[in-house]
Amino acid sequence: MRKILVIDDDPLIRKTFISHLSKEGNEVIVAADGTEGIELFKESNPDLTILDVRLPDINGLEVLTEIKNLNKKAYVIVMTAYDDMKTTVEAIKLGAFEYIAKPIDYIELSLAIKKVFKVKELEEKLNYIVEEQERDYTINNIIGKSPKMREVFKLIGMVANTRTNVLIQGESGTGKELVARAIHYSSPYKNEPFITINCSALPDTLLESELFGHVKGAFTDAVTETKGKFEIAGKGTLFLDEIGDISPNLQSKLLRVIETRDFMKVGGDKILKTEARIIAATNKNLKELVEQGKFREDLYYRLKVVEINLPPLRERKEDIPELVAYLLEKINRQLHKNVRIVPPHVMEKLINYPWKGNVRELENALTRAVVLSKSDVLLEENLPLEPSPQPPFKQELLPLKEVEKDYIQYVLKKVGGNKSKACRILKITRPTLDRKIKEYDIKV
Ligand SMILES: Nc1ncnc2c1ncn2[C@@H]1O[C@H](COP(=O)(O)OP(=O)(O)OP(=O)(O)O)[C@@H](O)[C@H]1O
Ligand SMILES: [Mg+2]
Repeated sequence: MRKILVIDDDPLIRKTFISHLSKEGNEVIVAADGTEGIELFKESNPDLTILDVRLPDINGLEVLTEIKNLNKKAYVIVMTAYDDMKTTVEAIKLGAFEYIAKPIDYIELSLAIKKVFKVKELEEKLNYIVEEQERDYTINNIIGKSPKMREVFKLIGMVANTRTNVLIQGESGTGKELVARAIHYSSPYKNEPFITINCSALPDTLLESELFGHVKGAFTDAVTETKGKFEIAGKGTLFLDEIGDISPNLQSKLLRVIETRDFMKVGGDKILKTEARIIAATNKNLKELVEQGKFREDLYYRLKVVEINLPPLRERKEDIPELVAYLLEKINRQLHKNVRIVPPHVMEKLINYPWKGNVRELENALTRAVVLSKSDVLLEENLPLEPSPQPPFKQELLPLKEVEKDYIQYVLKKVGGNKSKACRILKITRPTLDRKIKEYDIKV
């Protein structure tokens, strides 16, 4: 139910308003003059005020000004005389949302009110989204107390107030984007845009025009001029995801922007400036790419002014119980479920699982289990956990050959069939391994 305050000195009008507006499902309060109106406004903080500009004590426009002083976002509809355009314009300038002329046409009034509530609803939704975003991306939502995560938090805190470039490295699903957002949303520039671009998702030429924009006619499909992400990011953050995948051509263009802060649109000749902070992320080892000559060394150093390395989940098992609790709560909220009991043996399984896809994989596994669960208990059978290969030792005593076969099979399975890795672990040469695979008839 919405609350509407009506300020009008005519008792008949007040009576009609009360009956008309409450019939439409609103709570109505009325005031007979400006002073009382302002008092009631302060007391009841209505969703909408309908204000007559001609009042016995204070000029309605002054009442409007006072209401707006009390609440900048207050919605006010003013009632003016038909011929009084000057006052009407003045009222709109002072921030009235809408005006209606007297004598009142109640259909027109209802429409105006509907419009106010529609806008108000959108505004509330938007506020909610913004709050939700900020809540989701603050540092409090990065879970972890392990020493490696503490190091990460320290670095986030150190870079948040600076404009330095940051390079975030870590396996897939370790929280690189989460950290990038946390840096942005803890910085003084948190109200500026946070713009993401996935460098591996686009072919080279498209990526270039996404980053820098293009002028009309720059290429066949360039029918209008566009802004690039560097321009859109303004003073905010440009998050270059999967930076390890950009071509040598773009690497040198990127280096130039970082060094000089200026760039040109594709096909353009005007020099534009960027003030955005760059945070880059990759699940590759950029240093190795540099050594292999696939990534420019100078660009690498420009990007990693500060380097944040996110540990894989299996190297911080102590964080898993807290992460499970946090993620379950998040998933329950999204799915309107209430799965919160994790039996100790299930938690044990979750702690010891290798989580190749890290937190993302854990989150997906829990989501599946929550969807499937019929009670508030997290059941092992609902978790998509593949059994890890068991070491091949059995109770009975066996000939060496047989154990050797089982053991080679076990190692090969553990390394995902990667023979070079298996050779390194077994400390045998590749021809030896191949011979044994043939001899024992091992399926790889
Ligand atoms: N420490 C953490 N605490 C809470 N949630 C986390 C944490 N790390 C990651 N997550 C969650 O896991 C999911 C994956 O995180 P994110 O997208 O940031 O990973 P990523 O490293 O960018 O992955 P990819 O390399 O696959 O793009 C997200 O839903 C994120 O909210
Ligand atoms: Mg990511």
